[in-house]
Amino acid sequence: MPDPDHLDRRGAVGVITLDNPPVNALSLSLRVALQDAFEAGLEDPEIEAFVIHSAGRMFSAGADIREFDSGAAGESPTLGELIAMIEASPKPVVAAVHGAAFGGGFELPLGCHARVSVPGTRVGLPEVTLGIVPGAGGTQRLPRLIGVPAALDAIVSGKPMKAEKGYELGLIDEMASSLDDLVDVAVRLAEKLAAEDGPPPKVRDRDDRLAEARENPGLFDDFRASIARRARGFEAPYACIECIEAAVEKPFDEGLAFERETFTRCRNSLQSKAQRHVFFAEREARRVRGVEKATPKASISQAAVLGCGTMGGGIAMCFANAGIPVRVTETEQGALDRGMDKIRGNYASTVSKGRLSEADAEARLALIEPTLDFDSIADADIVIEAVFEDMALKKEIFTRLDAICRPDAIMATNTSSLDVDEIAAVTSRPEQVVGLHFFSPANVMRLLEIVRGEKTSPEVLASVMAMSGRIGKVGIVVGVCDAFAANRMLYPYAQQAGFLIEEGAFPEQVDRVIYEFGFPMGPFGLGDLAGLDVGWRVRQHREPTRPKDLRYSPIADRLYEMGRYGQKTNRGWFRYEEGSRTPIPDLEVTELIVRTSEELGIERREISDEEILQRCMYPLINMGARVLEEGISERSSDLDLVWLYGYGFPRYRGGPMFYADSVGVDHVYETMKRFHEVHTDWLEPAPLLERLAREGGTFGDWSAS
Ligand SMILES: NC(=O)c1ccc[n+]([C@@H]2O[C@H](COP(=O)([O-])OP(=O)(O)OC[C@H]3O[C@@H](n4cnc5c(N)ncnc54)[C@H](O)[C@@H]3O)[C@@H](O)[C@H]2O)c1
Repeated sequence: MPDPDHLDRRGAVGVITLDNPPVNALSLSLRVALQDAFEAGLEDPEIEAFVIHSAGRMFSAGADIREFDSGAAGESPTLGELIAMIEASPKPVVAAVHGAAFGGGFELPLGCHARVSVPGTRVGLPEVTLGIVPGAGGTQRLPRLIGVPAALDAIVSGKPMKAEKGYELGLIDEMASSLDDLVDVAVRLAEKLAAEDGPPPKVRDRDDRLAEARENPGLFDDFRASIARRARGFEAPYACIECIEAAVEKPFDEGLAFERETFTRCRNSLQSKAQRHVFFAEREARRVRGVEKATPKASISQAAVLGCGTMGGGIAMCFANAGIPVRVTETEQGALDRGMDKIRGNYASTVSKGRLSEADAEARLALIEPTLDFDSIADADIVIEAVFEDMALKKEIFTRLDAICRPDAIMATNTSSLDVDEIAAVTSRPEQVVGLHFFSPANVMRLLEIVRGEKTSPEVLASVMAMSGRIGKVGIVVGVCDAFAANRMLYPYAQQAGFLIEEGAFPEQVDRVIYEFGFPMGPFGLGDLAGLDVGWRVRQHREPTRPKDLRYSPIADRLYEMGRYGQKTNRGWFRYEEGSRTPIPDLEVTELIVRTSEELGIERREISDEEILQRCMYPLINMGARVLEEGISERSSDLDLVWLYGYGFPRYRGGPMFYADSVGVDHVYETMKRFHEVHTDWLEPAPLLERLAREGGTFGDWSAS
């Protein structure tokens, strides 16, 4: 509970300090304290103006999201009421903003009569990332201060803005040179405003920047068109645009009321619940069984990667991008040169797109040291093996690593399907061994499956969890099983997509349904992107262990045999014009599909979009249930993140397990049962799915214990 009486006096200026550690969340208790301090100052005849600033490392991270569901956010004084009171104050109020001011924590300064900040401060309205719109006047006041185009960019992206930029745009009135001066600068500005005649200037009364927008009536439609592909299916960005439109078209109070209604509608939507679920899932994923806050973590200042192929090169880039020196080895110079050329090419392409300066690219490249000297990796804090997927080779490598690595070095394998415990067992220190399953392209994809071996130590897990954040990954801990969580859940999805086209659908229909559901692309487009030769090789590799009843459609293998490898040959499931990535249905594929159905004795039928969606989604959810009940994953929200960051599952649907809960676990179970009766064993409902359906449970509430 913050001190309700924290109003200090600096001459005639009342200085109010927000103090609600750790991030000054605007919880009810803080709002009451602010109101009390403010009212006391209003009544005090010796106070002529106010400064509001914060204790701690930031101004305020905004609303307390947990209050959304408890209802406390609606208790008086609401943030909107507080801001209205401040804005209406006859005594000017200056916000002194440092560190960060987000969401409601930024709407509060927007309602003040002036804003002062320091370099490096970040301000913004990230509400859209929670599936809502700002709810305390942000969409009405920000465009009045910085103009509609800049406000659209800021609010619809939800991305923070540096205070320096805010100063240029007219959002920040004055910049203090350092944090030490911030309150002084704010006090002086407050004194100056108090000395002016008449009531202090209100943001709500400003119209000049809105008038500019009225002169450009196409502005909003153009903006909608510019986000159409990215925001597809996600309602909150469009709701934000409507609110800013209301700011331009309606008087302030009506605009504010419109924003409030929109906020309430969004907050109660399933999409917002899904976005909030993901927000909490990301925090929850950091809790790992057996790992405590106090568990020691190794500091990682030198990394090594074995193999500079598709994965090794990308992994080396991850370290270099995070400023960590990395050595990368190969068995022969040609492979090393090819790998380094690929890395150089990747950086050059980022530079040519304007996303990285040439100097930064050079600095990153300089952190990657190619070498043929295996022994030179002996001093690395972490070694990640990314050689061919071959158990004998991996065992040989780990035996050599065991002989040369420091006793405390972390030894990781990037295997996608081999048994991490079997690899660890060849070393004298299996507790130092862990799986680090990156996704391709490793320098781009955010997901990192951290595979916990039977003997992996909590210290190693804590260290790689921390490292994953440092190299920009979302680390999700899973246990050892064939293909781990992500790929294991992907197989039934891809398998069903294959069966659907044997039964009567075509790739373009399946891909359209999955795209409309919100994925960036469907399974066939994805296959073409990844390369059908890659999938073919994986199937060959898995063939010896594949249970005989687990049939898969032969069509993908036939395309491979025809030399149709996907985008790289301009022909795969689809056809591609030279230099284009747009998939075009191809008659040759259509004929192959129809012929294969005939050969298999399948009478093709019309397949509904609904069946396509269910046949693709429910089996993967079913596999998720198996992954959970086998203890491979600790919680269903981890599997949601795996799909969000590994395969582009739409965030506004919360991930596959959340989606199952939202359509009803019993419905998923009944549908799976029906599929199982018509088709074969691979669609058998998982015991956990059946149990939850029977008990009326959800994956979200399920826990392993
Ligand atoms: N490609 C993917 O999408 C993907 C995704 C996740 C994990 N993986 C896994 O990552 C590993 C590497 O896969 P990849 O796709 O990068 O293969 P790749 O064939 O592109 O690269 C492997 C590299 O390892 C090198 N190499 C072989 N033996 C070596 C040794 N003794 N010392 C040093 N280098 C050696 C090879 O010369 C080659 O350049 C495999 O275990 C694979 O299962 C691959």
